[in-house]
Amino acid sequence: MHFLDLILKKRNRGRLTPEEIDYFISGYVMGNIPDYQVSAMLMAIWFCGLDTEETAHLTFAMRDSGDTIDLAGIRGTTIDKHSTGGVADTTTLIVAPLVAACGLKVAKMSGRGLGHTGGTLDKLESIPGFSTEIDMDLFQDLVSRNGLCVMGQTAELVPADKLLYALRDVTGTVDNISLIAASIMSKKLALGSDIIVLDVKTGNGAFMPETSEAVKLAQAMVAIGKSAGRKIQALVTDMNQPLGDAVGNALEVAHALEILQGRSDGDLKTVSLSLAARLLVAAGIEPDEAMAVARLNRELDSGNALETLARMVEAQGGDPRVCEDLTLLPKADRIIEVKSAQTGFISRIHTNEVGVCALLLGAGRERKDDAVDPAVGIRTAVRLGDPVSKGDLLASFHVNNTRHLDEAMARFTNALEIGPSAPEPNPLIYNTIV
Ligand code: URA
Repeated sequence: MHFLDLILKKRNRGRLTPEEIDYFISGYVMGNIPDYQVSAMLMAIWFCGLDTEETAHLTFAMRDSGDTIDLAGIRGTTIDKHSTGGVADTTTLIVAPLVAACGLKVAKMSGRGLGHTGGTLDKLESIPGFSTEIDMDLFQDLVSRNGLCVMGQTAELVPADKLLYALRDVTGTVDNISLIAASIMSKKLALGSDIIVLDVKTGNGAFMPETSEAVKLAQAMVAIGKSAGRKIQALVTDMNQPLGDAVGNALEVAHALEILQGRSDGDLKTVSLSLAARLLVAAGIEPDEAMAVARLNRELDSGNALETLARMVEAQGGDPRVCEDLTLLPKADRIIEVKSAQTGFISRIHTNEVGVCALLLGAGRERKDDAVDPAVGIRTAVRLGDPVSKGDLLASFHVNNTRHLDEAMARFTNALEIGPSAPEPNPLIYNTIV
């Protein structure tokens, strides 16, 4: 086989066979196919597409490029959840302890934040002492004993994705549904969870702003999961405003804890309950979504979900007292209030800009090896459609380093459009793909 022939085949709208896709992926990971040829293949795929079978096979070849993790030793039903990323999107910290409190086993490998979206590892590491650097034996042991554990992705997991993603990033080939679906699903499938729930975000703070494209991505990922024999479903959810009220690592942990303590409601809680309910129904723990939501509310009211999270925090070296006492989380030196200069209604929120403002305060990273400040970020005080008067509080900025503060304040003020009337509300959940 010659890789040039495969590039030409795809460029001419041909269909790659499973053997050809295996040759592509294993050849690239072994260093036998140069970056410039793989770049040409990625661009041919970007223009000519992959069909459902090719996409599934690309995913399997990527999954098999490194270690896969067998969770069969864990007694019970193992689950995984994945969000395509958004702003104030802290669902893992709520869904994981909720479903673990109901008896499911949450074996979660998470990522760090990049750009305007946050990452679960950074959020958890804002808890004093908490470590996500755990070896595989301890990971499996903690999932078995406590029902949940969150660790960072190991270097040996899906090396093909690391190489391909770096190349896609610099060749204008990130935004292709088949390539995104294969990238995400290869990592999900490398971890052998029984049930997967995906939260595909749509809107101006999402990776896929157009709902029709987000639905296609969700459908592609569900199809791949099913062809691998997994129980999988996806929700397509709104990201036209930050999901929760906090953007920034310790602030997001605090908001998740307020929800687990029963002290906060809102969209973050609603989406978390929907994702968790889907998992309970898929696992056969509850017969339908309404019963599942009722059960989840009982786990919240009894404090069981909060205690489950506290067990995980303690097992991973963190201070479990934070679950009761939020003042133990890192705090910024200053809190600066941002007030409205106009009277009207919040008519549009440029969500990705809100994420960028938190990044400018130091909550996120532009480059992979940038350090994050766990304490800083933004606590928003308004949501789409809220009436505001001149002088009303729009947000509180939690600040340590003032280097980019003026820019962040100016961008935040522009990110919140104030108009004469409230906009039509967006659905919170657009679609469910099963
Ligand atoms: N997230 C991933 O893991 N891969 C992509 O291609 C896009 C988003």
